[in-house]
Amino acid sequence: MAHQVRGVVARTRGAPVEVVTVHVPDPGPDEALIRVRACGVCHTDLHYREGGIGDDFPFLLGHEAAGIVEAVGDGVSNVAPGDAVVIAWRAPCGACRSCLRGRPWYCFDSQNARQRMTLDDGTPLTAALGIGAFAELCLVHAKQAVKVDPTVPPEAAGLIGCGVMAGYGAAVNTGAVAPGDTVAVIGCGGVGNAAIAGAAIAGARMVIGVDVVDRKLEWARRFGATHTVNANKQDTVDAIRELTGGFGADLVVDAVGRPETYLQAFLARDHAGRLVNVGVPPEQGMIVTLPMSEVFGRGGSLQSSWYGDCLPTRDFPVLINLYRKGRLDLDGFVSETITIDDVEDAFRKIINSEVLRSVVMFTPR
Ligand SMILES: NC(=O)c1ccc[n+]([C@@H]2O[C@H](COP(=O)([O-])OP(=O)(O)OC[C@H]3O[C@@H](n4cnc5c(N)ncnc54)[C@H](O)[C@@H]3O)[C@@H](O)[C@H]2O)c1
Ligand SMILES: [Zn+2]
Ligand SMILES: [Zn+2]
Repeated sequence: MAHQVRGVVARTRGAPVEVVTVHVPDPGPDEALIRVRACGVCHTDLHYREGGIGDDFPFLLGHEAAGIVEAVGDGVSNVAPGDAVVIAWRAPCGACRSCLRGRPWYCFDSQNARQRMTLDDGTPLTAALGIGAFAELCLVHAKQAVKVDPTVPPEAAGLIGCGVMAGYGAAVNTGAVAPGDTVAVIGCGGVGNAAIAGAAIAGARMVIGVDVVDRKLEWARRFGATHTVNANKQDTVDAIRELTGGFGADLVVDAVGRPETYLQAFLARDHAGRLVNVGVPPEQGMIVTLPMSEVFGRGGSLQSSWYGDCLPTRDFPVLINLYRKGRLDLDGFVSETITIDDVEDAFRKIINSEVLRSVVMFTPR
C-alpha cells in the first residue's frame, strides 16, 4: 500500500518548488517509514533546486529531519514503531572497501530505501540525499533512522541530521580542532555557525567568524566566535592574518564552497595549517586555481568534509548530549518554524541571508 501525503518537489532546474501529492510506499525489507515531525531548510536543498547537484529531477526535497518511526519492514531490528529518530543521510553498508577498513564514515555505498516515492502519475522521485523529508511521511533505509532522546524538541534534534552535524564535524572530526588552536570559519550560516560552536567546544583559543552580513556575525558570536570579520568591509585573508599575529589560523573552514572562499581559506592558514571545505560548490564545473609554490611551501592539509565525516550512530547522541547539557545551543539555530507551503519563501530568506534555519513543522497525528 502507498500512502498519499503532501511533499515539496523541485520539478525542473531553477523553477520554484511545488507542494504536490507524493505516494510513499509501505516499508519493504530493511526499510523504515518515518512520520516526519520537523525538517530544516538547508542550503543544499536550494542547490538541488538550482541543478547544482545533478540532473535527476524531479527531486523530493528535505533532508534535515526528526520524526517518529511509523512502521518497519522485515528484518529491521535497530528501530521499532514509536521510536524518536533523526534521519541520517549516511548509513554505512558495512561491506565496501572503506567500511571493511574500519572507516565507515567514508562509506562508498551508503544505504537508502530500495523503493522509490512517486508522483501521482507514477514518476519516481529522487529523494534529496536519499531522504526527502519535506513530506509528512518519508521512506528510508532503517539504518538511516538513528534513535535519539525523545524529549528533545524535534525542531532542534532534526538539525543534527545535516547542517549542525556537518559544520560541527568539519571542525571537530575533519579539522581535528585541538585545545589552543586558532580557527577561522568563512560563511556563518547554519553550517558555519555549527563549525564555530564545535571549535569553541573543542577548546580553540580563538574562533574568527567571517561573513558578508552583520546579522550572521552577531549569531557567530553567540555560538562562540571570539572575533568577527565582515568580508564586505575587510579583506578576509588580511583580517584573519592580522588577528592571528600575522601568521594565519591553524584551521580555516570554508562553509561557503565557492572558488574565491576556498582560495581565501587556503591563503588564510598558518604554516602547516589545515583547510576544511564543507560548503558545496553551487554550480558544477567550477574551477579553483591555487599557487603551487604555496601548496608545497605552506604544508598542512586540504580536506573536504562530507557530513562532517560523521558516523551518525556515534555522533548524533554526542550532539544531543551536548545540547542537553546546555553546551550546544541547537535552539539558537532555529530562526523560525514554518509550514510545508513556505519552503520557497525560506529559500528566498537563505538567499537574502535572513535566517540560520527555517524549520518546517508537521502537526503530530
Ligand atoms: N559538506 C556537507 O556535508 C554539507 C552539509 C550541509 C550543507 N553543506 C553546504 O554548506 C554550505 C553552507 O550551508 P548553510 O545551510 O549554512 O548555508 P547559508 O546560506 O545559510 O550560509 C552561507 C553563509 O555564507 C555567507 N557568505 C556568502 N558568501 C560569502 C563570502 N564571500 N564570504 C563570507 N561569507 C559568505 C552567507 O552570507 C551565509 O551566511 C552550503 O553550500 C551547503 O550546501 C554542506
Ligand atoms: Zn560501506
Ligand atoms: Zn543539508
